[in-house]
Amino acid sequence: MVSRELVSGVFSVGAFDFDRRIFDELIPLPEGTSYNSYLIRGSTKTALIDTVDPAKEYDLISNLVRLGVEHLDYIVINHAEQDHAGTLPMILEFYPDARVVTNAKCRDLLVALLHLPLECFTVIADGETLSLGDRTLQFFITPWTHWPETQITWLVEDKILFPCDLFGFHAATSELFITDEAWAYRSAKRYYAEIMMPFRGSIKGYVEKVRALSPAMIAPSHGPVNKNPKFILDAYADWTSDTVKNEVVIPYVSMHGSTAKMVEHLTGALIARGIVVRPFNLTRTDIGDLAFALVDAATVVIATPTVLFGPHPTVVSATYLANALRPKTRFASVIGSYGWGGKSAETITKMLDHVKVELIPPVMVLGEPDEATMQALDRLADEILMKHKEINIV
Ligand code: FEO
Repeated sequence: MVSRELVSGVFSVGAFDFDRRIFDELIPLPEGTSYNSYLIRGSTKTALIDTVDPAKEYDLISNLVRLGVEHLDYIVINHAEQDHAGTLPMILEFYPDARVVTNAKCRDLLVALLHLPLECFTVIADGETLSLGDRTLQFFITPWTHWPETQITWLVEDKILFPCDLFGFHAATSELFITDEAWAYRSAKRYYAEIMMPFRGSIKGYVEKVRALSPAMIAPSHGPVNKNPKFILDAYADWTSDTVKNEVVIPYVSMHGSTAKMVEHLTGALIARGIVVRPFNLTRTDIGDLAFALVDAATVVIATPTVLFGPHPTVVSATYLANALRPKTRFASVIGSYGWGGKSAETITKMLDHVKVELIPPVMVLGEPDEATMQALDRLADEILMKHKEINIV
């Protein structure tokens, strides 16, 4: 692989993973990913920030060897997840004198996950600094920028922020810096939806804290380096705000066509009322696309047929995920069909306990939807439009 220089003495030494197509056995990676690690040479000390996924350990160590790094003083770990910390034991074998610098909570997780001895750690507190000679690292503890132990590292003199997962995105690209902001916006929004959205409340505050630092660059641990931090900070300020858009997301499954007819009718009725609609057939939906759509939508209408006495399991899975992602959606409803009974609508609405939504009465139909069903869906569209007007997004 290859190392690249961000500024004099600061190198990107991590790894690309062009082939990886799924993360956590859950999140699709249409563009692969990268595990970024950064080497900082000060006048007296050398530090490595984060490592890489163990699958790519050879890339990291070969980059360090090619740069002639014979000694590491510090290995800063911003986040204990394996894609950033998993190569730490191997790096410590190569550089046994290096101190692992992190906060107490991250240390405890690293000990549990990697079975490292406590003696190798230097524990830092929020705001603490570490001198590399002519360069200074400062650490800010930022819980829930994915996990509870996460922190960000600030290179004071160069004004470069190393926020690990935060502000990054999954993409393997040979470009060191972002050159196409429209592409980066979509990829970063998808990543925010999949990884950061559940922690919107915490992240909102970190965005302004980072803005106050006036970073010259943001160097995350996934995706290319950002030389225009305002772009991503403005995007995060929008995504984490309480503002929703005049949009309805309809995740659905249909077994014999009844639910699909209802989705088609409701979609048309909403479009006729000037509302943006995003239907997702869950049998062929990339869940990253669904998460992306949930970032801004004011309303979600979940559409399900009935399997035995409850909702279709694929709809249950998507509803569980949507609830866990905690979008800022304001309104929700359920539509669908059943054959001889069941409690699909009740089951789905009970699953939305993490989302602060106002429930709009469901439209469930016995068998094939008829004219009365379509009129009920028109009334649902009217109700959604009225709700959107009440919060001034129409
Ligand atoms: Fe990229 Fe939370 O790990």
